[in-house]
Amino acid sequence: MANVKFFGGEPVPLEMHKVRIVQKLNLPPIERRLEAITEAGNNTFLLRNEDVFMDMLTDSGVNAMSDQQLAAMMIADDSYAGSATYTRLENKLKEIFGMPYFLPAHQGRACENILGQVLVAEGAVVPMNYHFTTTKAHIVLNGGIVEELVADAGLEVTSDMSFKGDMDIDKLRQCIDEYGADRIAFVRMEAGTNLIGGQPISVANLEEIRKVCDEHDLMLVLDASLLQDNLHFNKTREESCKNQSIREITRRIADLCDVLYFSARKLGSARGGGMCIRSKELYDKMRGLIPLYEGFLTYGGMSVREMEAMTVGLEETMDEDVISQGPLFIEYMVNELAKAGVPVITPPGGLGCHINAMQFVDHIPQSQYPAGALASALYLVSGARGMERGTISEQREPDGSETFANMELVRLAMPRRVFTLSQVKYVIDRVIWLYANRHLIGGLEFTEEPEILRFFYGRLAPVSDWQQKLLAQFRKDFGDSL
Ligand code: F0G
Repeated sequence: MANVKFFGGEPVPLEMHKVRIVQKLNLPPIERRLEAITEAGNNTFLLRNEDVFMDMLTDSGVNAMSDQQLAAMMIADDSYAGSATYTRLENKLKEIFGMPYFLPAHQGRACENILGQVLVAEGAVVPMNYHFTTTKAHIVLNGGIVEELVADAGLEVTSDMSFKGDMDIDKLRQCIDEYGADRIAFVRMEAGTNLIGGQPISVANLEEIRKVCDEHDLMLVLDASLLQDNLHFNKTREESCKNQSIREITRRIADLCDVLYFSARKLGSARGGGMCIRSKELYDKMRGLIPLYEGFLTYGGMSVREMEAMTVGLEETMDEDVISQGPLFIEYMVNELAKAGVPVITPPGGLGCHINAMQFVDHIPQSQYPAGALASALYLVSGARGMERGTISEQREPDGSETFANMELVRLAMPRRVFTLSQVKYVIDRVIWLYANRHLIGGLEFTEEPEILRFFYGRLAPVSDWQQKLLAQFRKDFGDSL
């Protein structure tokens, strides 16, 4: 965002856009919110949006689009094969990332499916900084093994390290020695590392990984879904990027990779996804799966309108004023909460504000899902819907025992350019109130537990009447306020 200082000294993240289309919001009273979260089995994924005031579940497919994106959607060229829209998208991707080949897919996980099928054989290993839920599922589905090699500091909740998503290069070398380079399918780096709090990776780290990959003839695959926030952090936190444009930094990153895939529900604030590929041989291997799973090669499951919006969105991603809005709002929220003593992941990352439930509700054992319980409590007291990113998001071991997550987080995503600062202040206020009353929050237990990706549709119930007590305290403190 533009460098605008306030006379009063307040650190206000000033918006460099204006709002021209609005959607009315509904904030139901807390009594209705209790009914709604109960109907949803205390799983925020199962809430209906009509019961939600601030939807901070995700930034996926819900970032605000620009007037230019909307306008481009009007001139989309509809055709099954060879549309001009597709050519515009392909050209833009080649221009920005400099890779010769592109394959479209309907969203990020579809790219993971194809990469998994083509590159991951039974027993193959994929070293990565950290897993993402769908990525891991696809690798495991193909018989592969995920090795998470993020530097130990990346898992420290509070830190002043600028690039907590960086991989530990010694761990990478050890991993290759241990399994042998032949068993490594590819090395995967995730920009804006989602599950550890949207923490960025540095260009310097990627350069070192590239060297190791070259020594062992390994491919480096970048998950660029959250690249837009990552670029803001490269520009503002990494010395070697300070004098470079976003476009130049992007190109430096892409030049280090063999494949760069993304969810366009995030990158480019549109929908869809795709893979930029350097090698013709790999492109040929993957190409056949696109018509099988996605759609013809010139749309890959996307509508032409989505592709036009993506083309413009990718260009707008090269604008610092556009990409800094998310990280600066997140920074504001994280800093305000930290000032009030609320345990949050620091330094502020991308994607959203991450509350450390392990500490917020340290009286709830991991077997009673502290992050799930906190997400449910926060919806109850605010109407804001966050996402559990803790043990519920893990899968049980084959013997039925729980895999306790390294971190128990409630993610409050900040869809870009969607909320105003007063709305963000409202959520901050309710989180601080909840923290003061945290002893009232209790645990959850499963009443319905699906085997695969249980966090999406599992249902849970409170282990006691803690929600009624929380409601009573809310009414006592806030009177008849919504
Ligand atoms: N990779 C990363 C880093 C992601 O954050 C996501 C999605 C995907 C891949 C999959 O992409 O949804 O288009 O299939 N993250 C969303 C989220 C779902 O809420 O964080 P997709």
